[in-house]
Amino acid sequence: MSFNIAFFASHNGSNMQAIIDACKSGRLKSIPVLVISNNSKSGAIERAVNEGIPSFHISSATHQNDEDRNEYIISLLKHYNVNLVVLAGYMKKIDNSIIDFMNGMVLNIHPALLPKYGGENMYGMNVHKAVIEAGESESGATVHFVNSNYDEGKILKQSRVIIEKSDTPEILANKVLATEHQLYVDVISLLEHGSV
Ligand code: GRF
Repeated sequence: MSFNIAFFASHNGSNMQAIIDACKSGRLKSIPVLVISNNSKSGAIERAVNEGIPSFHISSATHQNDEDRNEYIISLLKHYNVNLVVLAGYMKKIDNSIIDFMNGMVLNIHPALLPKYGGENMYGMNVHKAVIEAGESESGATVHFVNSNYDEGKILKQSRVIIEKSDTPEILANKVLATEHQLYVDVISLLEHGSV
């Protein structure tokens, strides 16, 4: 099947771009239809504009009340007929009303081998610092379904990287990110083929 994908992204949006490129090249059958960002200056919004994908800045600056904000997001998901939400570096918690509206079809990518190194404060460089400090010999990325707890939904697929003794958190972050783009595209392809 083919999905109408909405991306939620707060920063650069390189994962979002990799998935858009895979849709354009025919590697994926899905169609990117919507981009939502809580950061009006994000690379993700800039990429959406360049790609001609409708994009919306939605944050506490545009909607002070959580309920209004979530209702507006759901109205956009309805309007654009979205049947898959892809979180790609989205720094806000997804409300249960959105997960319910999507019947659970909400994916996230996390830059570690969940269930280790997940949870509320495990984002960005915090994750890679914790992995290095713990002396792990490998790390990676995880694509999972989103539920109401941070990083706890069903795991769909993981990528792995070897950690060298000389790796800094920054080096590890780059190594993991380099595997994320392919991993995210692979998982969406598996979903399109009904293989997960
Ligand atoms: C990635 O490392 C992802 O695992 C995490 O946020 C980062 C997003 O990177 N959730 P980008 O914005 O896709 O470049």
